[in-house]
Amino acid sequence: MAEIMPVEDRSIDLIISNCVINLAPNKAKVFREMYRVLRAGGRFTISDIVSDQPVPNYLVYDTEKWGNCLSGALQVADYTNGLMEAGFQGIHQVSYVPWSRIDGIQFLSLTLTGYKPTEGRRPDSLGYATLLGPFRRVVDEQGNTYTRGEPLSLSAGASRLLCLPPFDGLFLLSNSPVPVGKDDSRYLAVLPEQAACVWKGDYTIFTGPFVEVEDDDQHTYRRGEPLEICSKTLKVLESDAYRRHFAIINRATGEVAGSAVSCAPDGGCC
Ligand SMILES: C[S@@+](CC[C@H](N)C(=O)[O-])C[C@H]1O[C@@H](n2cnc3c(N)ncnc32)[C@H](O)[C@@H]1O
Repeated sequence: MAEIMPVEDRSIDLIISNCVINLAPNKAKVFREMYRVLRAGGRFTISDIVSDQPVPNYLVYDTEKWGNCLSGALQVADYTNGLMEAGFQGIHQVSYVPWSRIDGIQFLSLTLTGYKPTEGRRPDSLGYATLLGPFRRVVDEQGNTYTRGEPLSLSAGASRLLCLPPFDGLFLLSNSPVPVGKDDSRYLAVLPEQAACVWKGDYTIFTGPFVEVEDDDQHTYRRGEPLEICSKTLKVLESDAYRRHFAIINRATGEVAGSAVSCAPDGGCC
């Protein structure tokens, strides 16, 4: 059973699972058990069905839908927070596929990965990190806030984590503080078009590896929480730099009239 694995503490390098954990009644226990059996520096890659909103009781107590891996689905935020509360770090999406929709609830097949942290000394020459983008600001799982272009001194744990994918491409790691300005080719920003917005029923779910991020258009995204987005923001989040950090769903069931709206007088988005 995933809730009580017949495996010694700290003996496993990699946990893989495909569509199993949503069948476990006590997911928090499964996440704690995963953490127990992994060695420090080990990781998990698990695929599961998750939902964009709470699954109501009339579906939870439908044994056929439970058996089909739907009714036991956690919301994305509950899944990622559960893994984080068990002790995992750097939790982020590998891929996602919209799976099915029941009574307005969108189910997704989501593959996540993350690490059991290591302990020990800071890696040599890695005392500072400068966020390069595409985010304007990020908050990591330890509560550190990084602002694009501004170097931040790292704890030993943070410097070990930021060496790992996908962080390694998002930061400049250095042994002294290195600011990165807008004119530097390493500075990455994806700006929205200066155009009217159209609302078409699109929602985005930020999937990590941070707990909260901000873009260049006054949007704050919290991991796992759906946020309605207009056409302009959809285009930004579908860019190469952003795409791997978000799942996109559409909640509209019929045709959407889609009148263009001007969101903010300064050209900022809704
Ligand atoms: C949808 S299938 C998974 C398919 C399989 N992993 C694959 O890739 O083909 C669900 C499996 O999870 C197992 N299962 C259900 N509850 C479980 C639990 N609490 N712990 C471990 N496995 C469980 C079931 O016996 C079933 O074999």
